[in-house]
Amino acid sequence: MAGLCRIWIFKVLVLGLIDSSHASLRPRVSFSQGSSERLLGLYHSSSVKNSSTLLLSADADTLFVGARDALLSLDVSQPDSITLKDKLEWAASPQNIKTCTVASKTDCGNFISILQFFNSTHLYACGTNAYKPQALIIPASSLRTGRDTKDAKNCCPSSSTQRNTATIVDEELYTATKVGYFGVKVISRCHSRGARNNLELQNVPKLLQEPEFVSSTHIASEGKILLFFTEVGDLTGDSFLNSFTVSRVAQVCTNDNGGSLTLQKRWTSFAKSQLVCQQGDELQFNKLQDIVKMSPADDESPDNTLFYGVFTSQWLAASSSLSAVCAFSLTDIKAAFSGDYKTFDLNVNHWNHQPNVDGKLGKCGLFNDNDRVLNIVKKSFLTEKVVRPVDKKLIFSSTEERYSRLAVQRTQAANGHSYTILYLLTESGFLHKVVLLAKGPHVIEEIQIFKQPHTVKNILLSTSKGVLFIGSSEGVFRVPVSNCSAYPNCAECVLARDPFCGWDSETRACATVSRMGSNLRQDVESGNVNAQCTEFKHTAATVTRIARLNEIVVLPCRSRSRLADVTWRFSDNRVVPQLMYMQRADDSLVFTVTPETLKTYLCVSEELGFKQTIAAFAVTLPVFPRSFPPPSDRQPDVTLNSDEDPKTEPISDYYTAFEFDESEPTKEERTDAFMTPDRTNEKKARTNPQSTININTAGKDIVCVAQKSYYNEMVAFCLLFVFCLFVFIAFVVLWRRSMRCNKTTPQKQPKDAESDNIWQTELDEQKS
Ligand SMILES: *[C@@H]1O[C@H](CO)[C@@H](O)[C@H](O)[C@H]1NC(C)=O
Ligand SMILES: *[C@@H]1O[C@H](CO)[C@@H](O)[C@H](O)[C@H]1NC(C)=O
Repeated sequence: MAGLCRIWIFKVLVLGLIDSSHASLRPRVSFSQGSSERLLGLYHSSSVKNSSTLLLSADADTLFVGARDALLSLDVSQPDSITLKDKLEWAASPQNIKTCTVASKTDCGNFISILQFFNSTHLYACGTNAYKPQALIIPASSLRTGRDTKDAKNCCPSSSTQRNTATIVDEELYTATKVGYFGVKVISRCHSRGARNNLELQNVPKLLQEPEFVSSTHIASEGKILLFFTEVGDLTGDSFLNSFTVSRVAQVCTNDNGGSLTLQKRWTSFAKSQLVCQQGDELQFNKLQDIVKMSPADDESPDNTLFYGVFTSQWLAASSSLSAVCAFSLTDIKAAFSGDYKTFDLNVNHWNHQPNVDGKLGKCGLFNDNDRVLNIVKKSFLTEKVVRPVDKKLIFSSTEERYSRLAVQRTQAANGHSYTILYLLTESGFLHKVVLLAKGPHVIEEIQIFKQPHTVKNILLSTSKGVLFIGSSEGVFRVPVSNCSAYPNCAECVLARDPFCGWDSETRACATVSRMGSNLRQDVESGNVNAQCTEFKHTAATVTRIARLNEIVVLPCRSRSRLADVTWRFSDNRVVPQLMYMQRADDSLVFTVTPETLKTYLCVSEELGFKQTIAAFAVTLPVFPRSFPPPSDRQPDVTLNSDEDPKTEPISDYYTAFEFDESEPTKEERTDAFMTPDRTNEKKARTNPQSTININTAGKDIVCVAQKSYYNEMVAFCLLFVFCLFVFIAFVVLWRRSMRCNKTTPQKQPKDAESDNIWQTELDEQKS
């Protein structure tokens, strides 16, 4: 009893809290793959594999794709098509492939791992080339001209599975990847201009430990490249003692040219700091998965640049699927690099404090300094300070999803307020669109991109075109950032709280918010329908549901919003009592038809204080008493109104009784678009239709409902059971009587013995 009680308290305290704090992270609506209301563009060609590197032209009309053995340029200027513009076949030589295969490698193709603009007219592309990396500089306008390949051994990854990052500034390549077996040349500058040196990392202990590079970016205001990665943590050096994986931000300066004696041809500006995605003493999300830069508005200081990162935690089993989003500011990153450092003392295996004398450490331009300074620089690469998220808080965490990639943008709502929108790809193959509100994050929608769990290599956002490109082994997907027309009426449009969408009361459509300011109806913060909408119906057309006494009826009701609270009510607005009625997980109402339950039922959804009736059913007995069958007689299902127009079309069981607006599309069109809130439960509900609802296409009134009754089956079963019981009892009685007879009449025994003896005698006869 005490144990039970404790479990209960645990549930209330722990699960209850977790549930409530994450409840709002459920996507409001969900679009399944292929939904007509959330159409995706796809470029797929059977001859193009592993299209994993993406690059968008400045005008966002051309998408360059690095694939396996090929480089493509796609025309993405049209909203409804993606067409191939140009293609460069770029395979590894047979000789290379042979050598690679002999070394038992599995990825002996030419996987394009780096694709960047070299300058305004040319592209830089780098491929693994069967473990002999090779680079190309080609005009972006015609990929097939000027095949001038270069050896890129020290700049590009040789393996296709190795994550890498590269940034080109002034026609010089800053690249981070493990090249070679010793992993020394991990952060390099290649193709340096003129007399400038190519640079790489010095070889000192603890500099980098099995790094996995995630991304890099050029911060022009600082003259620095920032690199983001994870590595194996150092038990003595990092603040989080038990951490094995740590997430890092590192810097190098673009003006660096290496020291003249000390650190010759080596970075004099390399430094790293820890990125801590953690709230208070709670669990640390230590494994960075992806991070993107969000530049501030033009009139703001570049120091307000934010970096949004998605992290997972290695401390949880893979099944618990936890991830978090944290934002870091450039100000905090700068503070870490300009603060004190730690140096590692090999003799005692210990990190010592290294004060930042004169604030020199972490600065650009140290390569000109003397050897005394450079010797300190050489040892001082780990900052004392760690970088904590903005406001020392997570943006949010999810107990349900493991996010793997993200994109971010700021957008202006109809009232001029700016909102941050995050696009997060889940490992299960969905895209979540999240708006960060003052009250916290709100997941506007979820779109299924892949049927199967999928590792996506690249996600690219074009804010000017309002589309996301997702590169995967299946091809390149294009996802518009919004489709306001998916919201059929003002209430839905406002409840969506999508900064991109507002209700236009003139055209009576949910429209895209334009940049020019608009008078669209929208309330991103609180979704107050009553304040924004004037035209909405609170009621749904009543559907007549004909049922026989004792029949079990199921009244379907599906709110398109997973955040709505659904209740079933009588027509006088009383909530149906729980004793006689059951509301299932899919919000359908189940009950037995009795004279008391012959009533009208309303399915009422409530979201953000706005109530609407989304379905209404009047449950009545058949009109013709003669069609009332005796209980034992099996009747064909439903036959009422059989003299009605036979052309009535059945609509899918995935039916919602929305009745918003006459101008809306037909129900059939609308219903297939939405995925179910609880995928497993609802799938069950969908594949197990108990009722067929027919809608008279011409009229509004007559609806025939077929419902299988279990009453007859039950009676038949009971009769059969009673019969079986009777037979069984009869058998037992007979058997016991015969036993008693055996005991009282032993003279029967000899008969058996006699028969045995017959055998015996036969045997004897055989023997003799
Ligand atoms: C390339 O695509 C195939 C599936 O088409 C996949 O199995 C493989 O892992 C991909 N390789 C890389 C390096 O992405
Ligand atoms: C870009 O680089 C290529 C290759 O070095 C060069 O031929 C071309 O002139 C450059 N374009 C510009 C605009 O500098």
